[in-house]
Amino acid sequence: MNPTTNIAIRAARKAGGIVMRYFDRIDSLKVSEKQANDYVTEVDRAAEATIIEVIRRAYPHHAILAEESGEHRGNDFLWIIDPLDGTTNYLHGFPQFSISIALQHRGQLVSAAIYDPVRDEMFSASRGAGALLNDRRLRVSDQKGLKGALIGTGIPFRDQRYLKEYLDMLAAMVRDTAGIRRPGSAALDFAYVAAGRLDGFWELGLSAWDFAAGTLLVQEAGGAVSDIRGGDRHLESGNVIAGNLKVQQAMVKVLAPHVPDALRH
Ligand code: IPD
Ligand code: CA
Ligand code: CA
Repeated sequence: MNPTTNIAIRAARKAGGIVMRYFDRIDSLKVSEKQANDYVTEVDRAAEATIIEVIRRAYPHHAILAEESGEHRGNDFLWIIDPLDGTTNYLHGFPQFSISIALQHRGQLVSAAIYDPVRDEMFSASRGAGALLNDRRLRVSDQKGLKGALIGTGIPFRDQRYLKEYLDMLAAMVRDTAGIRRPGSAALDFAYVAAGRLDGFWELGLSAWDFAAGTLLVQEAGGAVSDIRGGDRHLESGNVIAGNLKVQQAMVKVLAPHVPDALRH
């Protein structure tokens, strides 16, 4: 396996240990609100510090972009880290959250690890070498279109500028598919698309650390990731559609009439 993917896995597993250690005493955690409905705990910070330590020990000159501590300068390798994706779930004892770590080289994703510490599921991918769940090869579903498809999404809870348009999108997807799920960790949602557990996924307003790793996983599992208009500006815009190619293309079409004007250019 690619050595950088190994480091991502090692860091994600170590952070998962910290996250689980606190999970049975979440009541005693110090929580602060970064902005409306956006919470951070000492666990997010401790997990992030551990991830950065593991990466820095192996690659002292690489750059880092981490959700809680921001940018750490370095060379043209960039690690993109979400130390705890699904903090709101975590704080409620709702067992769906993950650690997400991606590596880009000059803008191209090369390594990814997404770890679900509750189920001990390690999703990983290396560019050109496929995607794995623990040691098993992953492949997106072979669903032929939206009819019968199970689709994941994220409901806006922080920034509600496009809530009306989002609800129109949701209505369209409810009509055309077998069902919609809102599990609450975007990184795991992508991993589930890669594993064929979801046929597709969409969300508006994500940050790069929510789905950089997930993007490589889906691509390496044979799936497609685009922005909300079917283009390739998803990591910049945070508005994203992922799925097996047929489902992703069908979603672009069904969602198109409801894309907010401000997101059309
Ligand atoms: C959030 C989760 C959630 C998604 C939000 C993200 P966080 O990440 O991925 O599923 O809907 O947009 O911000 O804040 O728990 O790391
Ligand atoms: Ca996140
Ligand atoms: Ca987070």
